[in-house]
Amino acid sequence: MDSEEETRTLGTLWGKILSPGIMICLTGPLGAGKTVLASGILAGAGIPGPHRSPTFTLVWEHEGAFKINHVDLYRLSSDEAVGDLPWEEMISEGASSIVEWADRLPPDALAPDRLEVCIVPDEFDLSRRRITVDAHGRCRAMIEGGEGSC
Ligand SMILES: Nc1ncnc2c1ncn2[C@@H]1O[C@H](COP(=O)(O)OP(=O)(O)OP(=O)(O)O)[C@@H](O)[C@H]1O
Ligand SMILES: [Mg+2]
Repeated sequence: MDSEEETRTLGTLWGKILSPGIMICLTGPLGAGKTVLASGILAGAGIPGPHRSPTFTLVWEHEGAFKINHVDLYRLSSDEAVGDLPWEEMISEGASSIVEWADRLPPDALAPDRLEVCIVPDEFDLSRRRITVDAHGRCRAMIEGGEGSC
C-alpha cells in the first residue's frame, strides 16, 4: 500500500463483504495503520465516520446492518485481563469484531473465521506499508487463494 488512502480503500473492500461471526485481527507496530484499516472496514460496512480509535475505551460498539466491535488491546497489560473479555459474545449474536494488537489475544479467543492481517511499515518510504493477510475458515472466500500480500 503506497498511501493511507490505499490502505483505507483495502479496508473498505473488506468491509463491504464482512459478515457476522468474522474476526479481523490486526497486528503491526505503533502507527502502522491498524486504525486506518479498521476505519476503512467500518466505512465499507456502512458505518459513517469519523471512527475514533478505541485505545482509551477498549471496545467501541458500532451498530450497522449488524454489530461491529472495534477493539484495541494496546493498553491491556496482562494476559489474564485479555482472557477475561467476553470473546465469544464479541462474535456471536450477529456481531463481528475488528481487533487491534490482536497478537495479544489468547489462542482460545481467536474465532475460526478470521482474517489475520499484519501491517509492516517500509523502512525507507514513510508512506508505504506491506500488508500480509492469512485467511482462516469462511474468510478464505474473502481473499482469493486464502493467503496473499500487497
Ligand atoms: N500506507 C499507509 N497506510 C496507512 N497509514 C499510513 C500509510 N502511510 C502513512 N500512514 C500514516 O500512518 C499513521 C497510521 O496511524 P494509525 O493510527 O492507523 O496506526 P495504528 O497502527 O492504529 O497505531 P496504534 O498502534 O498507535 O493504534 C497515520 O498517521 C497515517 O496517516
Ligand atoms: Mg490504532
